[in-house]
Amino acid sequence: MMNRDWTPRSWRAMPVKHMPDDYPDPLALAHTESELSRLPPLVFADETRRLTAALAEVADGKAFLLQGGDCAESFKEFTSDNIRDTFRLILQMAVVLTFSGGRPVVKVGRIAGQFAKPRTSSLETVNGVTLPAYRGDIINGMEFNPAERMPDPKRLLKAYHQSSATLGLLRNFALGGYADLCNLHRWTLDFVAGSPEGDRYRKLADQIFESLSFLTALCVTPEQKKTLHQVDFFTSHEALLLNVEEAMTRREGPTGDWYDTSAHMLWIGERTRQLDGGHVEFMRGIQNPIGLKCGPTMEPDDLLRIIDALNPQNRPGRLTLIGRFGADKAADCLPRLMAATRRGGRAVVWSSDPMHGNTLKASNGYKTRPFDRILSEVKTFMEVASAEGVHPGGVHLEMTGQNVTECLGGAQAVTEDDLSSRYHTHCDPRLNANQALQLAFLLAEKLHTLRAPRARAA
Ligand code: PEP
Ligand code: CO
Repeated sequence: MMNRDWTPRSWRAMPVKHMPDDYPDPLALAHTESELSRLPPLVFADETRRLTAALAEVADGKAFLLQGGDCAESFKEFTSDNIRDTFRLILQMAVVLTFSGGRPVVKVGRIAGQFAKPRTSSLETVNGVTLPAYRGDIINGMEFNPAERMPDPKRLLKAYHQSSATLGLLRNFALGGYADLCNLHRWTLDFVAGSPEGDRYRKLADQIFESLSFLTALCVTPEQKKTLHQVDFFTSHEALLLNVEEAMTRREGPTGDWYDTSAHMLWIGERTRQLDGGHVEFMRGIQNPIGLKCGPTMEPDDLLRIIDALNPQNRPGRLTLIGRFGADKAADCLPRLMAATRRGGRAVVWSSDPMHGNTLKASNGYKTRPFDRILSEVKTFMEVASAEGVHPGGVHLEMTGQNVTECLGGAQAVTEDDLSSRYHTHCDPRLNANQALQLAFLLAEKLHTLRAPRARAA
C-alpha cells in the first residue's frame, strides 16, 4: 500500500508534528521554499550511495559508525575554527576506535544542516511573559523577545548558505590533506594536549605512526596511497523541517531515483516517528541512508512495521536504528527490540545515542548530562548486542571540539559549579573534546573485549 504515490510533497497530506505553523507571512514562506528548490544541491547522489555502501558494511558487522556533532548548529557559533575542531575530534575518535576496536570507522557529522529542534513545549514563559519557544536558528532566534521568537523564512536561506560553506570547508579538510594520517599528531586539540586523554592519544598516535611507515611501504598504486591521505566524511541532520527537505529533494537523471540533497544521511526523531505521520511518509521515498531514533516507548511490533515502511526491500545500509533509552532503561528496552530485528532478519545498523535519555537538570538549573550515565548506556548497549547476537554498530553523540562545560564528570571532573563557566550550547548539553575522546578510549576497550571471545571461537 505504502510504496505507491510517493512524491516529495506527499507528506503534506499527513499529520506532522514539531513543524512551526506560525509563520506570520505564509506567502513569504512559500516563496522561500521555491527559492530553496532552485539552489544547488549540497551533496550528490553518488556520495550518498557511498555512505549506504559503508553502512551496509556496518550492518554486516564489519565496520563501526561514529556519528556526532552539535545538538543544534547556530548562526553565532559558525566559525572555521569550530568546524575544524569538531572535524578533527571526530577523526581522533575514529583513529582510537579503528586502532583499538579493530574495525574501519564510518564518520558522519551532525553538521552542515543540523539546525531545527523539536521542542517539548511550543511556548516558553519567563517572569510571566509567554512567547513561542526557540526552535533552532533556522526558524527563530534564541533571545527572549517577541521579534526574535517570530519564525522568519529568511533564516531558511541563511541556514542553507551556512550549510553550504560548512560543507565546502569539510570537503577541503577531508580531501585536501588535512585528514592525512601522517598529520595525526597535528590533530590534537590544544586544550586536550595536557590531559590524560591527550597523553593516551599521543601514545596511540606514536604507535600508529610506526605502523604507518610500514603501510606506506606496502602501498604502491596511487589509489592505495590515497587511502592514507584522504578520508570519507559524511553529513547528517534530523529531517524535521519537511518543507526544507522537500525543496532539497531532487530526481537523479540516470536512475530516476529521488535523493534529499541537503545531507548524506537524514534521521527521524523520537517525536516524529509515527507510522502514519508526514515524517515517515517523506523519508520512505528518498534513497539516502536514513536513521530512526528509538526511545523507551518503542515496541517490537511497531518497530518492525516502521522498518518495513522505510526499508521494504530490506537493503543493508539503508536504515540505522539509533537507540536512546537512558542508562536506567536500556537494559529493559533494548533486548526485545534487538531480538525482534534479528529474528525478523531485518538488515539494520544498530547504533546507540547515549545522550538523549540521560538529560537532567542540575541543582543550579542547568540542563546537563553526567558522563557516567552516558558511558553506562553505551556499555549496556554493547553488552545487550553481544548477548543478542547483534553487531553493536555505532554511537551517536552530541559533542564539540570546544572546551565547553555542559556535561558533568569525565576525567577532568566537570562539576555543577563549573557548568556556568562555558555553557554555550543552543539546545542540549554536549560532550567536550576531552570527554568525547575519553569515551572513545573506553568504548574501544569495550569493543575489544567483546570481540576477543568471538575471534577465539573463529
Ligand atoms: C536530537 O538528536 O537532537 C534529538 C532531538 O533527539 P531525539 O529525537 O532522540 O529526542
Ligand atoms: Co539534542
